[in-house]
Amino acid sequence: MNFELWGVSIRGRNSSRVLAHEGFIFEMKLKQLEGLLGSIQQFPNPKLELEQYPTGPHIASRLVYTAENTFGDVNGKVVADFGCGCGTLGIAGALMGADYIMGFDVDSQSLETASQNVELIEVDMDLIQCNVKNLALRGQVINTVIMNPPFGTRQKGIDAEFLSVALKVASQAVYSLHKTSTREHIKRIALRDFNAKSAEVLCELRFDVPKMYKFHKKKEVDIAVDLWRFVP
Ligand SMILES: C[S@@+](CC[C@H](N)C(=O)[O-])C[C@H]1O[C@@H](n2cnc3c(N)ncnc32)[C@H](O)[C@@H]1O
Repeated sequence: MNFELWGVSIRGRNSSRVLAHEGFIFEMKLKQLEGLLGSIQQFPNPKLELEQYPTGPHIASRLVYTAENTFGDVNGKVVADFGCGCGTLGIAGALMGADYIMGFDVDSQSLETASQNVELIEVDMDLIQCNVKNLALRGQVINTVIMNPPFGTRQKGIDAEFLSVALKVASQAVYSLHKTSTREHIKRIALRDFNAKSAEVLCELRFDVPKMYKFHKKKEVDIAVDLWRFVP
């Protein structure tokens, strides 16, 4: 496997299991989850070539809350956050009771911030530096993948590559955000090329992109994004 374990088994004062034992996880409300994710630090030096756009707390909390409360895909499961950046989705997964959670990203600076966020929120999450394209896990060792992959605006086809790998390694479900403009393409490749059993758009969202890069002219723009659930 082509990865480097980055800050092995970062453990906060309260592990997610202890929280579950105390009944906290099961009482986690959507608003509480969103509030906690709001305190997370995001990319200090965002890298355009890696398409580093953070998922805001509103969308991140709804993605993971829906995955657990509607489909039972998080609590007690092995969950992976592909392209975890500063850890938002993975941390949400840990707060919703994932048994074991891993975050994969190619960028060491983002993983450093993710590690600080993991400590701040006091959850368990292993952070692994690797290129998701080269991830070769033996079989479906992960139950659920949650991800906001690069959309392919700078790295052509990377959104499809993330989806392909996710559908290979997950046994239960893959949750992913993709531009609404790519809906038909994503559905076709998931079902035809990556052998997904099903591909369903759960909802259409407005993804806020703040002014982060030099070429951004406006203070903020939002883009239409689909929240997908795929069954491998
Ligand atoms: C759109 S951002 C999402 C970040 C984070 N998951 C979130 O939701 O806020 C995409 C992330 O994918 C990472 N990334 C880009 N290409 C990658 C690759 N080939 N392998 C692993 N991570 C990659 C970037 O560094 C970035 O953190």
